[in-house]
Amino acid sequence: MDIKKTVDLSFDDFDELRDPRPASSDFDTVVERAISRRGFLGGVLAFGSGAMAMGAGMTLPGMARAQSATFPFQPIGIATDFDIHVPEGYAWKPLVKWGQPLFSEADGAYSPETGVPVAMSDKVFGENTDGMELFVIDGKEVIAVNSEYVNPKINLPAASEGMPQNADEVQLLKNMQGVTVMEIADNGQGYEVVVDSPFNRRITHDTQMTMDGPAAGSDLVKTNADPEGKNPRGTMNNCGSGKTLWGTYLTCEENFNGYFGATGEMPEGQGYKRYGIGTQGRYAYEKFDPRYDLSQEPNEPHRHGFVTEIDPSSPDTVPVKHTALGRIKHENAEMVQAADGRIVVYMGDDERGEFIYKYVSNGTWTEGGPTDGLLSDGTLYVAKFNDDQTGEWLALTPETTGMSMPEILVFTRMAGSKVGATTMDRPEWIAANPLKAEAYCALTNNSRRGLKPNAGGDATPVGGPNPREANNYGQIVRWRPESGDHGADTFGWDLYVMAGNPDVHQDAYAGSDNVTAGNMFNSPDGMAFDTTGLLWIQTDGDDSNEGDFAGMGNNQMLVGLPDTGEIARFLTAPNGAEVTGLCWSADRKVAFVGIQHPGGSWPDGAGKPRSSVIAVWRNDDATIG
Ligand code: FEO
Ligand code: CA
Ligand code: CA
Ligand code: CA
Repeated sequence: MDIKKTVDLSFDDFDELRDPRPASSDFDTVVERAISRRGFLGGVLAFGSGAMAMGAGMTLPGMARAQSATFPFQPIGIATDFDIHVPEGYAWKPLVKWGQPLFSEADGAYSPETGVPVAMSDKVFGENTDGMELFVIDGKEVIAVNSEYVNPKINLPAASEGMPQNADEVQLLKNMQGVTVMEIADNGQGYEVVVDSPFNRRITHDTQMTMDGPAAGSDLVKTNADPEGKNPRGTMNNCGSGKTLWGTYLTCEENFNGYFGATGEMPEGQGYKRYGIGTQGRYAYEKFDPRYDLSQEPNEPHRHGFVTEIDPSSPDTVPVKHTALGRIKHENAEMVQAADGRIVVYMGDDERGEFIYKYVSNGTWTEGGPTDGLLSDGTLYVAKFNDDQTGEWLALTPETTGMSMPEILVFTRMAGSKVGATTMDRPEWIAANPLKAEAYCALTNNSRRGLKPNAGGDATPVGGPNPREANNYGQIVRWRPESGDHGADTFGWDLYVMAGNPDVHQDAYAGSDNVTAGNMFNSPDGMAFDTTGLLWIQTDGDDSNEGDFAGMGNNQMLVGLPDTGEIARFLTAPNGAEVTGLCWSADRKVAFVGIQHPGGSWPDGAGKPRSSVIAVWRNDDATIG
């Protein structure tokens, strides 16, 4: 692997490099199998104790669409430029850009030519914004927001080939990632960051953490630097987010594998192949920090890939990695409550052919009650979707897997394989409807569906909620737990939408009937429900506007109606960017939206592009979700 190339790869392509797919496929087979989805599109699906017709998203091509409903905005067209567009009557402005100071000592630290000096790199807003949540603490509004990864060519403009050349440059990249906690306030000019707020904090790849749950302290997570196996440092590749019912932040560690490499002999690490851990990291950390050097610390990767809880109420709190929720390439963590008060967390593992998980606590939670053990003592389940639109949650226990509890929680993917979980088309965000017991998962795309097994060798047959071979558009699967109880072991499912291109294709790649020439998109990724029950959908896909993607334009944010399946475009991002991360001000009048890896010179209009969070509001001062 040529290290100069890895820095330019997407995480999906980085996986591909480690585990290449076959060169060709039979297109006729692709189409034929995709159309056979009619098998699960017909009929009426029983959900819970009653029976319910499927949503409009499931209608066959040619069937009448559901009656048109009104969106609270006029949907917009596509864009291909380097700007943001929102509906008429709405406005936007940047809230915070990469490199912007959180503390006054970092005033002026950012320069369009040189970026940010290492000494200030953990005093500014981080790079590549992703999942975020807003908290109201002592009457103040505080956002916790992820910085997923870095763009060395932007963050290290002086470094050769955009790769760090020394320990300082590695330190700078480590400081640019992790989590930012920041107070924001609207002082009459729109929301701004409150510089020097006592809430402001950066959590980086070096921040001291603790670990709880059954894998904490096990031999699998002990290192030379932490012989107890309970005190890992750093949270990395922080992708999607979650919010606990008790007001803390959940940051989800996704493509952690890419940070490790070996300067000496490569150990035969358990699970390295399944998780994509190889000899050369994306950013050469291993050359300058022994913690990332597998030949010195073969267990260090076992300490990442977890859901990590951060208390945003004080910068002195120590983040906690919750091993009970499993070690996967975590996208986000959607917390709901079972009918009996137990905590339920839905989680996707974003890689081709990986699984969807659910954690259920043993203890119960009541408002204001204790939270001890709720994220460290429970059962982890993995999803099996049957072709008949039923599904079940399979418990991952020593009895079902033949693995010890620490093994299940460190090598969670292998545990899922042992019980026969359903291989999915790259599970991204999961969002639960606040108005009814159902959850949605964005299955962003899967170039390998039907063509190649997952990294563990599990077959990826076309069928069920993954109905198209070589799926380059993605779909959103939805499930409703038995009896309307998220604690139930069984569920019914359908597809809320199959993305596609009705201008280019007449078969299943045209998408489901709620996809039209006017709203088409590819690669759904971020998702969140607002308080009114609207589903906000963010995309991270091909924005070439050519070929299969002609007419889709730049990445975008859409709004979906759960009951009719109607979907309307709300926002378009600058070319090059994905839209990821969404939360609202306390009064619901402002939506904060993450714009990651923009192209051009957005948003400054000159110089290098800067990942930013923007604020979007209505000119008439009404609520926006
Ligand atoms: Fe970080 Fe799967 O997106
Ligand atoms: Ca994502
Ligand atoms: Ca994505
Ligand atoms: Ca991303």
